[in-house]
Amino acid sequence: MPKQRTLLVANWKMSPTRLRDATAILRALEPVLRPDSRQAAKQSTNVDILIAPPALFLAPLQSEFGHSFSFGLQDASAEREGAFTGQLSPLMAKDLGATFTILGHSELKRLGETAMLTNQKLKNALAAGLKVILCFGESSRPRELSAKHMAPTWQTELKQLLRGISASVSYKLKATRSLLLTFEPAWAISTNKQGGAPYAYLEDFLAWYRNHYRFPVLYGGSVDSKIIETYRDLHFDGYLIGAASRNPKEFSKIIGLVNG
Ligand code: PGA
Repeated sequence: MPKQRTLLVANWKMSPTRLRDATAILRALEPVLRPDSRQAAKQSTNVDILIAPPALFLAPLQSEFGHSFSFGLQDASAEREGAFTGQLSPLMAKDLGATFTILGHSELKRLGETAMLTNQKLKNALAAGLKVILCFGESSRPRELSAKHMAPTWQTELKQLLRGISASVSYKLKATRSLLLTFEPAWAISTNKQGGAPYAYLEDFLAWYRNHYRFPVLYGGSVDSKIIETYRDLHFDGYLIGAASRNPKEFSKIIGLVNG
């Protein structure tokens, strides 16, 4: 069986603050991927790279680097259009060439986003034709790091997030890889200085997950080149990468490891 491609989702969060710095990251990244081809990032054999820059930078980055990278949003409104001040419609992102959106990130949950709202966003983004990177995972470090202990919590959250997605829609989403789940335990992200979730915990998680769900699954939380090497044998379908994805040297190393 051919090796399944690995997905790297770069979540730049609210950084950098200047467009020229954002441009510099991608300029540095592009030639490192494959010096002989501008199609490098999209065509390199085993890896797909999705970049979620600050939304204000989406249009200029898409116009300069759209031939090399796929761009998307870090969050998208549950609404299509209208009186929703400050929100970003997935239709607008799509119109600018975006291919995906991240949804349900732990930093939004921390600000009060509920699974019900994320569920509405999910349906709206899929209807707009965007691929969705849907995050879930516990916010604080569990007392016991085991699937046995945590399964009811994961199950409840996933049930709420996927509410109203029928079996036939699920089937289509799986076939087209339009919905990718991301296990993102908030306590393991780099701002919490944990250095990623322990290997054995993720192994336990994956055994549980693959028994219950068929959507591809990514891992997010302090991912850097060291973690990628450590987690290699877990065979996640991809990674959601925050801080390390804004560092071209580190991100190139990650791409090399995944592609190798
Ligand atoms: P990090 O972010 O890679 O900086 O830990 C990941 C995330 O926010 O999911």
